[in-house]
Amino acid sequence: MKKVIAITRGDGCGPEVVNEAIKILQIVSDFTDFDFELVEAPAGGEVWKKYGTNLPEKSFEIIKSSNALLFGALGLPDLPPGTAESAILKIRQGLDLYVNLRPVKLYNALRERCPLKDEFIGEGIDLTIVRENTEGLYKNIGSLEEDKAENIMLYTREGCERIIKYAFEYAKRNGHSKVTSVDKANILKPSQLWRKIFHDISKDYSNITTEDIYIDAFCQWLIRAPYKFQTVVTGNMFGDIISDEAAYLIGSLGMAPSGNIHPGRVSMYEPIHGSAPDIAGKGIANPVGTILSVKLMMEESFNSREIGNEIDKAVEDALQDGRTKDIKSRELKTLSTIEMGDLIANKLKGRLKA
Ligand code: NAI
Ligand code: MG
Repeated sequence: MKKVIAITRGDGCGPEVVNEAIKILQIVSDFTDFDFELVEAPAGGEVWKKYGTNLPEKSFEIIKSSNALLFGALGLPDLPPGTAESAILKIRQGLDLYVNLRPVKLYNALRERCPLKDEFIGEGIDLTIVRENTEGLYKNIGSLEEDKAENIMLYTREGCERIIKYAFEYAKRNGHSKVTSVDKANILKPSQLWRKIFHDISKDYSNITTEDIYIDAFCQWLIRAPYKFQTVVTGNMFGDIISDEAAYLIGSLGMAPSGNIHPGRVSMYEPIHGSAPDIAGKGIANPVGTILSVKLMMEESFNSREIGNEIDKAVEDALQDGRTKDIKSRELKTLSTIEMGDLIANKLKGRLKA
């Protein structure tokens, strides 16, 4: 199966982690029926400095005509905030990528790196945040004046319905027995519409139990009993915030993958972290979040749970042998970005050969 994958390496540590994820694509290409053609689609701050745009037309054309996009991270500390990063919103909005899928899983090997005490980790952390990705405050309706600024939190019935349906279907596909909706319906009108639609749609999924939790209470539940959650569906702003909180529970921001998805269309896969200027160029960034984004790509865009599973197992195996600095262990060798990528690639090669 031939697939064209657009590659946006981006800024800061983006190119470093994307390089390691490409090794994984190469191995999948070598040892399975998949055949990947990689096409570069530059975007971000460095590109802005050269061409005066953060997303050249040609790059967007390449992305639109690909089967999926593998994306690093954008942002440079010497540019005003948003100069590079707005390219991400252009891609999300331009391709109508309404699902932001953010699985958060604590690998057994990393239990000691979780900042929670053992009793709070309980039976473990394995939840997925399904974040609405095109509406709400990020629709960018508003104004900035000298003495006043506003953003409008706009949600439509169509926007709520499609993301909530996706969450229930995701739960069903993954054998989850509960979907949690996070909102602020005690204060916000868009949350009241959201909650009504959540309850209406839940009636079509009688095998799945549901619960509603307010965003502020959810933030404490997430550190008090993260093992309680399976699929969590929420709006754009809340989803952005809780997914960074959740990501740290699994050891490092560098561990968490994400998909920006419109089922059946070109979708974008990226680690949830940014360009990490504090560690960029030092060869110490953790490539696992980006490698697990390839896992998500295999599962969600290319319909291959088997290969997704093999990548997951390869990461799990690798974490027993070596770690990057952000998740380092006294007993194991601390590895560079490249060494960690090679270790996972070798584990995957071994599994796919077998
Ligand atoms: P960040 O996610 O880049 O970094 C936060 C902290 O996590 C830093 O201490 C960093 O060293 C650490 N970290 C991040 N990725 C890591 C990895 N792979 N391995 C080990 N440690 C890692 O967030 P920050 O500093 O707020 O933003 C930096 C730039 O990235 C900004 O320009 C921001 O706008 C941009 N950004 C871009 C995103 C994207 O491209 N999707 C997402 C988030 C931020
Ligand atoms: Mg974020």
